[in-house]
Amino acid sequence: MVRLHADYSTSSHFYAPMDHDGDDQATGGDDDEWSDTSSEITELDPAEFPRYFVERNGRLFHSHGGSPYPFPVDTDEQNRDKGIHALLKARLGRNYVGPVREILRQTVGRQRRALDLGTGTGIWVEEMAGEFPHVRFDGLDIVPIATRYPPANVMFEMHDIGEPFRYADGYYDLVHARSVSMAVHNYAVLLDEVARVLRPRGLFVAGEWMRGPAMIRGADPAVHLPRTTEFFRVVNNTLTVKNIFPVAPFLHELIEESNHFEDVHSRQIEIVVGGDARGNRFREMQKVYAESMRVVLVEAGRHSRREVDELVAGYLWELYHVPGMIHVYHAVHARRLPHG
Ligand SMILES: C[S@@+](CC[C@H](N)C(=O)[O-])C[C@H]1O[C@@H](n2cnc3c(N)ncnc32)[C@H](O)[C@@H]1O
Repeated sequence: MVRLHADYSTSSHFYAPMDHDGDDQATGGDDDEWSDTSSEITELDPAEFPRYFVERNGRLFHSHGGSPYPFPVDTDEQNRDKGIHALLKARLGRNYVGPVREILRQTVGRQRRALDLGTGTGIWVEEMAGEFPHVRFDGLDIVPIATRYPPANVMFEMHDIGEPFRYADGYYDLVHARSVSMAVHNYAVLLDEVARVLRPRGLFVAGEWMRGPAMIRGADPAVHLPRTTEFFRVVNNTLTVKNIFPVAPFLHELIEESNHFEDVHSRQIEIVVGGDARGNRFREMQKVYAESMRVVLVEAGRHSRREVDELVAGYLWELYHVPGMIHVYHAVHARRLPHG
């Protein structure tokens, strides 16, 4: 039985673009800067929610034709995303890296705006909206899995981030994108669009996980984690065939080479598997990740069910039995160039 938190009663608080011709970009200069329920979008009828999902192999996926995102979007995955969010927040001490407070500080006569790409459960947006109540937050996703009851300064909208956004140039002060590497075929194209909607000197904050094993103190994973190494080799090959490419190791240079940004800063955050309460929670999240990846590998059809089970079992065994395994998160922030 596929699990999905949903309540199809009353209003949805989710918005989607209206089907109409003509210019559908929101402008930055409306009188009512706080609410942007303008003519371009309409509130989703909750009865429409099921059409955003499709069930396969006992899991619930998005039904969007354009996104390459291969993972389920069901309760197990939503709980994993929330767990990873809590873990990163605990590790960083806050929900962001970089000069976010400076960028979002309240100024008279100017509405501050932030955009979250591939917002998922919307937990980042919700917490940020609480910390910065004067800022208007928008969260974009292809499935309505965020809360139906967002704070007043939050709006969730259905949008494929592989397509141009409806917002005008320079509309946002901050754009945030976390764990969206599997959501787009071409991260460089996404960066062009991020830069377009950011105001000059606006801030881009991004984070992606390495899809591969590592060990504490730089020990060689191929020696200490051979089955994990093999699991991720197959994962990366399989995703590459689907035109889903690794982003984390290249995030810094992709941003630099886009020629849209300056002041690019990166940080690698290592999370240890096991060893203490936090590490144990992380291990449980990686177990959920492995189960989701099992379905992706089976659906790809490049390996038999038995081979896939063997690969996943190998990763899980080392996850629980080899001390010192880590996974690495790349956190980057950059300022949009003042001109161009
Ligand atoms: C791993 S989750 C990350 C969620 C959130 N950013 C977080 O860190 O908690 C990836 C999210 O991207 C969404 N997604 C996948 N393809 C997308 C697309 N083309 N446009 C918008 N969202 C997409 C998925 O539905 C999912 O909610």
